[in-house]
Amino acid sequence: MRYVLITGAGDGVGKATAKLLKNEKLLLVDRDEKNLKKTAQNLNAEYFVCDITNIDKINELKAYVEKNFASLDTIINCAGVWTKGEISQLNDKHFAEINTLERIKDLLDTNTFGTIAMITTFAPILIKNKKGQIINVNSQSAVETEEFCPVYNASKHGSYQYRKAIQRDLAKHNVKITDVCPGLIKTNFYIRAKDELPQEIMKLGLSPDEVAKTIKYVFDMPHEITIPSIEIRHIKNF
Ligand SMILES: NC(=O)c1ccc[n+]([C@@H]2O[C@H](COP(=O)([O-])OP(=O)(O)OC[C@H]3O[C@@H](n4cnc5c(N)ncnc54)[C@H](OP(=O)(O)O)[C@@H]3O)[C@@H](O)[C@H]2O)c1
Repeated sequence: MRYVLITGAGDGVGKATAKLLKNEKLLLVDRDEKNLKKTAQNLNAEYFVCDITNIDKINELKAYVEKNFASLDTIINCAGVWTKGEISQLNDKHFAEINTLERIKDLLDTNTFGTIAMITTFAPILIKNKKGQIINVNSQSAVETEEFCPVYNASKHGSYQYRKAIQRDLAKHNVKITDVCPGLIKTNFYIRAKDELPQEIMKLGLSPDEVAKTIKYVFDMPHEITIPSIEIRHIKNF
C-alpha cells in the first residue's frame, strides 16, 4: 500500500484516479468541498480542502500531511482549469468574459504555480524518504502549440518545462516524475469554464476512466522504470 495525495480529486480525472487507487492510502485534495467530501466518503479516504493557488492553504496541507499521514509516496497533481480564445478574439464579448485578467491569473496560478507549488512543498519529503513518485496530469496543450487557447497553452507548457528541468535532479534521489498528457476528456472541465463544447466534439473525448487507467499504468511501473511523459488521445481526435 502506498500513501498517495491527489489534487483535483473532487471531480473528473482526479476522482476517477482516486477510485482506481482506492486500495492505496489516499489523501484527496480539492477546493470544491462538497464534491471532495462526497468522493472521499464513497472511498473511505481522507480529504483536505485546499485551493492550490493559496500559499497559506498549501502550508496548512503540508502541516496536515506531516501530522496525520504516516508517509508520502506519490503525489498526483490533477487540479487544473481551462479557458480559450485567440488574442484577436478578445473584442468579442464571450471571449472577453472568459479571459478577464482575474481569470487568466487564476488559470496560471492553478495550472502552473499550483503544480510547481505542490512539487516544491512535497518533493522534499519524497527526497528525504529516498523514494517517491510525482505524476502531473498535464495536457496535449503542453506538447503542441494550440493557438485557440494561448493562455492554457502557456500554463501547461510552463509546468511541462518545469518537470523537464527537475527530473534528473529528482532521479538522483530516487524520485521519478511523469507528465501524463491527454487530449480532450469528457468531464465538466469546459462547463466549469463557461465554455460548454458541442456534443459532436465532446463525444470524441476520452473518458476520465481511460485517463485514470493511464495514470495507474504509470503508477504501477516498477520503481526503477520511469516514464518522463506519456500522451493519450481518442483516435478520432488525433
Ligand atoms: N478535460 C479535458 O479535456 C482535459 C484535457 C487535457 C488535460 N486536462 C487536464 O486534466 C486535469 C483534470 O481535468 P478534468 O477534466 O478532470 O477537470 P474537472 O472535471 O474540471 O476537475 C477538476 C477539479 O479540480 C478542481 N480545481 C480546479 N482548480 C483548483 C485549485 N486551484 N485548487 C484545488 N482544486 C482545484 C476543480 O474544482 P472547482 O470546481 O472548484 O474548479 C475540480 O474539482 C487538469 O489539469 C486539466 O488541465 C483536461
